[in-house]
Amino acid sequence: MDDLTIARALHVLAIVHWIGGVAFVTLVLLPAVRRLAEPARRIAVFEEAERRFAWQARVSTLLAGLSGFWMTERLHAWDRFADPRLWWMHGMVAIWAIFTLMLFVFEPLFLHRWFLERAKRDPDGAFALVQRLHYALLTAGLVVVAAAVLGSHGWL
Ligand code: HEM
Repeated sequence: MDDLTIARALHVLAIVHWIGGVAFVTLVLLPAVRRLAEPARRIAVFEEAERRFAWQARVSTLLAGLSGFWMTERLHAWDRFADPRLWWMHGMVAIWAIFTLMLFVFEPLFLHRWFLERAKRDPDGAFALVQRLHYALLTAGLVVVAAAVLGSHGWL
């Protein structure tokens, strides 16, 4: 087994944990939290669960990015980014960049504070917006996972 194979295994493991976690938050946690009657409880439960996952997702995102760039280097695949037919390569980097910005920059800087303030004023609206955002990110993530598997095995 060479370093490329190990990088591929780590890449897939990181993606499974990260996109799987996004699926859980979107399809299980958020709908359950939105059904809680008391708005203050909704914020507390969501915050507690999301805070735990955010740290794990930061590690997975980092690992996915490092292993992804390592594979790109080892496969001498940088020129793929110049070919629009290999859009799944751009798709991977785009999803990675969006999550990296959200988790490492926007959330700690202002997104978290903005959500708390909005959820106190208008809990239904704030949770509906967060759910829509999660649906969009999950859909994009799953499309890229499918495209990356098909693309890297010569099907796209
Ligand atoms: C910095 C970001 C990323 C880079 C540079 C990157 C790069 C790569 C490379 C070079 C490959 C191997 C392609 C081949 O064998 O021809 C790969 C495979 C793959 N990547 Fe990424 N990737 C990144 C992020 C992501 C993200 C965010 C996802 C999912 C949302 C993802 C999902 C996958 C999947 C599912 C495979 C296929 C594994 C297989 O079937 O062998 N990657 N990636």
